[in-house]
Amino acid sequence: MRALCWHGKGDIRCDNVPDPAIEDGRDAIVKVTSTAICGSDLHLMDGYIPTMEKGDVLGHEFMGEVVEVGRENKKLRVGDRVIVPFTICCGECEQCLAANWSLCERSNRNKEMAEKAYGYTTAGLFGYSHMTGGYAGGQAEFVRVPYADVAPMKVPDGLTDDQVLFLTDIFPTGWQAAVNCEIRPTDTIAIWGCGPVAQFCIRSCFMLGAKRVIAIDRVAERLAMAKAAGADTIDFSKENVLERIWELTGDRGPDKVIDGVGMEAHGGGSIDAVVDKAKAAVMLATDRPHVLREAIMACRPGGIVSVPGVYGGMLDKIPFGAAFQKGLTFRMGQTHVKRYLDDLLGLIERGSIDPSFVITHRASLEEGPELYKTFRDKKDGCIKVVMKP
Ligand SMILES: NC(=O)c1ccc[n+]([C@@H]2O[C@H](COP(=O)([O-])OP(=O)(O)OC[C@H]3O[C@@H](n4cnc5c(N)ncnc54)[C@H](O)[C@@H]3O)[C@@H](O)[C@H]2O)c1
Ligand SMILES: [Zn+2]
Ligand SMILES: [Zn+2]
Repeated sequence: MRALCWHGKGDIRCDNVPDPAIEDGRDAIVKVTSTAICGSDLHLMDGYIPTMEKGDVLGHEFMGEVVEVGRENKKLRVGDRVIVPFTICCGECEQCLAANWSLCERSNRNKEMAEKAYGYTTAGLFGYSHMTGGYAGGQAEFVRVPYADVAPMKVPDGLTDDQVLFLTDIFPTGWQAAVNCEIRPTDTIAIWGCGPVAQFCIRSCFMLGAKRVIAIDRVAERLAMAKAAGADTIDFSKENVLERIWELTGDRGPDKVIDGVGMEAHGGGSIDAVVDKAKAAVMLATDRPHVLREAIMACRPGGIVSVPGVYGGMLDKIPFGAAFQKGLTFRMGQTHVKRYLDDLLGLIERGSIDPSFVITHRASLEEGPELYKTFRDKKDGCIKVVMKP
């Protein structure tokens, strides 16, 4: 079959790879009908996530048709149309029973690698390095779905792929980031980034009742999309973010802040960001946490710092004193996708949101490598790419 494979930093290719096969009775094989490129894939492309190997199949946002089912799988049948959450979960461990689906204790086949880096293992992920299980991803014609009797969800025929595909990741991710803010009707929420994830953060904050959202980025069409959702916007390449936030909030500051950017933040020339870049380049640091620092500084005392943006390693110069003195609460993590699926599918069915608003580019798998670059470089107005294998 054809699949998008990682071959090193900046090197993604559409290759011939062996078809996947059932390996366990609970598995299913899904023929992929739609698959998207995520900001998290860019961290792989840019070489920020360790334990990738040449030839690894990428992709964790995908859906399709079940074409084969393992013997013990009582939930799925051949012909079912399913979305597949990016976090793989067993449904039986203590974390799964607590609905902490992204913390499944059993789905990572390479537990020792995760334990070395993080003390404990977390869930296996599709197409996301060997440290999270080394599972082949869904930017491919077919994919093997382990524990397919737990997380995958059948979708109603009346809804198109474009409407439900983002239930696999970015819609629940934006929603969880907003839920983690414990939104009250008087809240102003500041959101760093206007990428696909942040776009869902913005809309989720409003759906959950926030009074006001301030969104920060420097890419014109992404800022425009944020504005269309009702956010006030700040262009960090043109304005001083903290000063502008204080101006917009009458020096009060946002009640809650969301870091929707993660480890590859740009710094708009600020000193801390220049140092981050230099350190990351010579492997003295892993992540570039400029946004996290700014969000902590901006947050009103007693507030919440919600972090859907991905971090992977040891972060430098985090103003922990400010966080401590202001009594801030931190919430973060990979998304517990399954926890939100019923609610979010309901919102789509009732027409409260049509997630396809974020799609700007459609392509074939063959065009994938080129579109990875277009998405990374924010060329051609690219906000979200969906591929049809
Ligand atoms: N927690 C999860 O489970 C989960 C799931 C999906 C994605 N993510 C993460 O969410 C993050 C965003 O994903 P995406 O798909 O939207 O990615 P993206 O790369 O398309 O968007 C990131 C945006 O941040 C902007 N940005 C960079 N520096 C900034 C700064 N200093 N201030 C404000 N904005 C800045 C960029 O211009 C870009 O528009 C990534 O880190 C991704 O890995 C997390
Ligand atoms: Zn993703
Ligand atoms: Zn589990």
